[in-house]
Amino acid sequence: MKIKELSKQVLTKLKMTDCLGDGAGDMTPMDLYEKLTSQGDTVRTLKTEKAAKADIDAAVQLLLKLKVDYKQVTGQDYKTGCPPSECVVSQDNGPAADGEDMVDPWNVSTTNAKGVDYDKLIVRFGSSKIDQELVDRIERVSGQKAHRFLRRGIFFSHRDMHQVLDAYEKNKSFYLYTGRGPSSDALHMGHLIPFIFTKWLQDTFDIPLVIQLTDDEKYLWKDLSLEDCHRYTMENAKDIIACGFDINKTFIFSDLDYMGASPDFYRNVVKVQKHVTFNQVKGIFGFGDSDCIGKIAFPAIQAAPSFSSSFPQIFKGRKDVQCLIPCAIDQDPYFRMTRDVAPRIGYPKPALLHSTFFPALQGAQTKMSASDANSSIFLTDTPKQIKNKVNKHAFSGGKDTVEEHRKYGGNPDVDVSFMYLTFFLEDDEQLEKIRQDYASGALLTGELKKRLIETLQPLITSHQERRKQVTEETVKQFMTPRPLNYSF
Ligand code: TRP
Repeated sequence: MKIKELSKQVLTKLKMTDCLGDGAGDMTPMDLYEKLTSQGDTVRTLKTEKAAKADIDAAVQLLLKLKVDYKQVTGQDYKTGCPPSECVVSQDNGPAADGEDMVDPWNVSTTNAKGVDYDKLIVRFGSSKIDQELVDRIERVSGQKAHRFLRRGIFFSHRDMHQVLDAYEKNKSFYLYTGRGPSSDALHMGHLIPFIFTKWLQDTFDIPLVIQLTDDEKYLWKDLSLEDCHRYTMENAKDIIACGFDINKTFIFSDLDYMGASPDFYRNVVKVQKHVTFNQVKGIFGFGDSDCIGKIAFPAIQAAPSFSSSFPQIFKGRKDVQCLIPCAIDQDPYFRMTRDVAPRIGYPKPALLHSTFFPALQGAQTKMSASDANSSIFLTDTPKQIKNKVNKHAFSGGKDTVEEHRKYGGNPDVDVSFMYLTFFLEDDEQLEKIRQDYASGALLTGELKKRLIETLQPLITSHQERRKQVTEETVKQFMTPRPLNYSF
């Protein structure tokens, strides 16, 4: 094979696995628009020059295919002379549309009642599946039983986790980084998933943790004032602290505060900014001409905490401490970009653990959303509200009548109450029994919902009690740049 061809293949492969996704998903709406326009010209020229029918047909076929791709990427029909930035209603749609599933940092939706096809997502994003072998290895290396989120495939995908475990086995330390965009006071149960798991990782591996609160991101994306975003940061920090993080091992920061206070952090932001082009962020995030420049620059700010030199007070200036990021899979675009840049600025690539989404009460076609009160169970809900919401709104996989249900059984795969139990019921045997009984018809929908209500109520009540204990002073301590209880 010719070298040129070979390198073209390698390049394509690299692009698919570590950068931007696949197929039409690689192209920005503008790239596609330009390609379509020129293909239209080609067809016209061939026709006026009375070219061979086969050539014209081939060119028309390509034109039609591009039109289909364009519709898939932009959600709009192609119109000559009307470039996508003027025609596309929402510029927030990244290019990650794969048939029926839509997953990017701003949108999650599928038409499948069982939820997003996560195996397909692994292929599309080029990450690796967390298989039984990896779960076993995590248990072996840590000497702890794997968290239920690992046992049940809720954290289902990773990048470089084996590398992290290799290093840990050689007594090399690593650190954890996760975050949250504080867009309101109202946290719901889904928001807790990465934090519950991160707390387990911190306890299990005994390592430092940094938590980024992207108040700047929310200011840029939402119709909120800077003051509101910063206030949400401080309020959300209380909920995060209430998850039980160790104050001696955890640094929580607001971008609005830390960016200005840490020269080293800002230096890393600028390094990333210098090594990512507008074309790349357009490809990854679907930004367009009418997006404000703050959005275009923001991904570098979410990338910076992946590098230990952004926190000299913790890592004493070391820039080689490996980072592990637990996050929901929709955040992966940020970290594909980060991993692409890291070696070029002399840093290790962060490793990742990806979670599935926490389904909305109405069904797994979309995730729980704070802006839709009926879709969510909030951390501030009373036991009574929890009961009413589950009974009224939780989508049921049961049959219409008790008789039919007893006869044919329910479908736990689409049943939201059952899905929530897989997130929160600790006991594997109980969960399996519930699954079997529901599928056989022995357990009725009302009874299943009752199990869920009884599981959630104490969980949320105790969260509320722990949150009450978190004082302004505690928040301040967590958010003060300082050394943690580790020597580097
Ligand atoms: N962008 C994330 C959000 O909107 C917040 C975030 C920042 C984050 N850094 C992160 C999430 C690291 C996970 C891991 O919620």
